[in-house]
Amino acid sequence: MLRTVPLQVACSFMADVLRWRILVVEETTSTNDDVRLAADQGEPDGFVLRANHQLSGRGRHGRVWNSPEGNLYTSILLRPNASHKNYGHYSFITALAIYDVVKASAPKSPVTLKWPNDVLVDGCKIAGILLEAGPDYLIIGIGLNVAQYPDDVRTAATSLDHIGANISVETALDNLLAALGRWLDDYNDNGFLPIRNAWMLRAHKGEITVKLPNEKLDGMMLGVDEGGALRLGLADGTERVISSGEVFLGTGQG
Ligand code: BTN
Repeated sequence: MLRTVPLQVACSFMADVLRWRILVVEETTSTNDDVRLAADQGEPDGFVLRANHQLSGRGRHGRVWNSPEGNLYTSILLRPNASHKNYGHYSFITALAIYDVVKASAPKSPVTLKWPNDVLVDGCKIAGILLEAGPDYLIIGIGLNVAQYPDDVRTAATSLDHIGANISVETALDNLLAALGRWLDDYNDNGFLPIRNAWMLRAHKGEITVKLPNEKLDGMMLGVDEGGALRLGLADGTERVISSGEVFLGTGQG
């Protein structure tokens, strides 16, 4: 099955770790693209691809995700039982897992989650998640800054190394998959409510700017609804429910 995936592989190995099957490659274009190919060819749930670096790493909103060696670039294939309309829940589940990895390796760091799926340390982005759905599968693409962080992004960034966490990419992935497994079990057993509550406990709260395709809104982060949409409190006392947009900390941003 895996032989049919056209990866640019300089070196790779397979390891079975309980529910996950991990393939590591030296270099590829985008791990999300490779996992999509594998999924379309019938690869089962639990396939994990990690690349040491990516030539065309993608972020949200069509942005480039610079992917030099030293950071974690991975994509995870899930074939969820959840209906397609609940696929958005998985960004919260994944953000919680990344939170656990960062917090465990740098316990004193102020780690927060920013809707819909960023992990921040002291307001600086340390990880991003790119969810991509297929007809009956979900690809969770994760970029976690381990050894370095970009200085050319519009939002401030940081890395595990920069916050004093001495952890390898391999250990970061092992810890991430262990944490993801726990949060997925919780979700499968108990639904989205405990995930939403856990996410809210760790979320950045306060004033935010939300950038939509044709407008920018200032308001207070009130929470997320049962579908995972952002609840934004406006100055006139009304509430807007936003299912897709870009959030900046503080008002008048973006
Ligand atoms: C974001 O914009 O915050 C999401 C970034 C997601 C980057 C990861 S790196 C592994 C996977 N492959 C990609 O091309 N993108 C995701």
